[in-house]
Amino acid sequence: MAVLVTGGAGYIGSHTVIELLNSGNEVIIIDDFSNSKPEVLGAIQEITGKDFKFYEMDYANKEALKKVFEENKIDSVLNFAGFKSVGESVKKPIAYYKNNISGALVLLETMQEYGVKKFVFSSSATVYGEPERIPLTEDCRTGGTTNPYGTSKLFIEQILKDIYQSDNSWDIAILRYFNPVGAHESGLIGEEPQGIPNNLMPYIVRVASGELKELSVFGNDYDTPDGTGVRDYIHVVDLAKGHIKALEKLEKEGNGLYIYNLGTGTGYSVLDMVKAFEETTGRKVAYKIAPRRSGDIATCYSDPTKAKEELGWVAEKNLKQMCEDSWNYINKRGK
Ligand code: WQD
Repeated sequence: MAVLVTGGAGYIGSHTVIELLNSGNEVIIIDDFSNSKPEVLGAIQEITGKDFKFYEMDYANKEALKKVFEENKIDSVLNFAGFKSVGESVKKPIAYYKNNISGALVLLETMQEYGVKKFVFSSSATVYGEPERIPLTEDCRTGGTTNPYGTSKLFIEQILKDIYQSDNSWDIAILRYFNPVGAHESGLIGEEPQGIPNNLMPYIVRVASGELKELSVFGNDYDTPDGTGVRDYIHVVDLAKGHIKALEKLEKEGNGLYIYNLGTGTGYSVLDMVKAFEETTGRKVAYKIAPRRSGDIATCYSDPTKAKEELGWVAEKNLKQMCEDSWNYINKRGK
């Protein structure tokens, strides 16, 4: 299988490329390094001992994209080229809608022109908005997103449903990620947010490393066991493996639009995360209780049963491994 991976140098893209190469696929990566670094490509080669094709370009550049489809016999496409910062999306809605939605449309249109109809989309638990019930199953109500990032995911899901409705020879998998953390066990690739991190785990590791002074715990008065927000953290390597299973499903069964939660099914609070990190690494994480962050919900975790039953996929790595690998990456890369 020749798989086109947009955003393949990014955090989730690069981990997925490793799993694709390790399972014998031919890989073509597109990335413009707008939120990643060229060194990641060398790291992928070092980890897998395998080669792949690479195009440095914006995935929304139609002419360049056509050239990629001309030069390669692509079977399927995995799209990781979206912008992903919630806070930034509130400040730059046009940039987010343009990159995430227009980019996806250019990609899908080009796929259609070249008769490539297998597509795996990186969606997010954020499409559930305020959860209808916990744990979240795929048939829970979606909508009520509170930022352009989340809304772009919701819109693209709808676009994909409409495409499938118009032509059911497409094979589409929508994967709703919960909270990806961790890094490849080699420590050669990991999460590299620009500036001060917004997400919990990257913040925790940078407090432990001394790069940041203390963690602000956003609210301790939620209706949760310890009052802090509860989320479904999932190791990025498990998440990457979910994509391989989804691709296999599209190859085997074809002609369908499938939606899966990719999560562990277990919720941990902010303070659980701090404690687990301290216990695993032996480093102290200084924190203070701060006001709630606007747009946050109390509790969000998945019911991952559908992915288990239909894809044969379950998340295998525990919280300790998530903490260990996040910490290992930061230490290896240096500050
Ligand atoms: C987790 C918990 C915070 C930072 C977002 C997106 C989602 C996905 C992942 C990705 C919450 C608390 C956090 C901090 C804190 N998108 N927290 N102090 O908000 O669940 O999900 O990121 O690209 O679509 O919505 O993740 O890691 O920001 O927060 O107390 O400095 O940690 O309040 O309870 P979230 P998060």
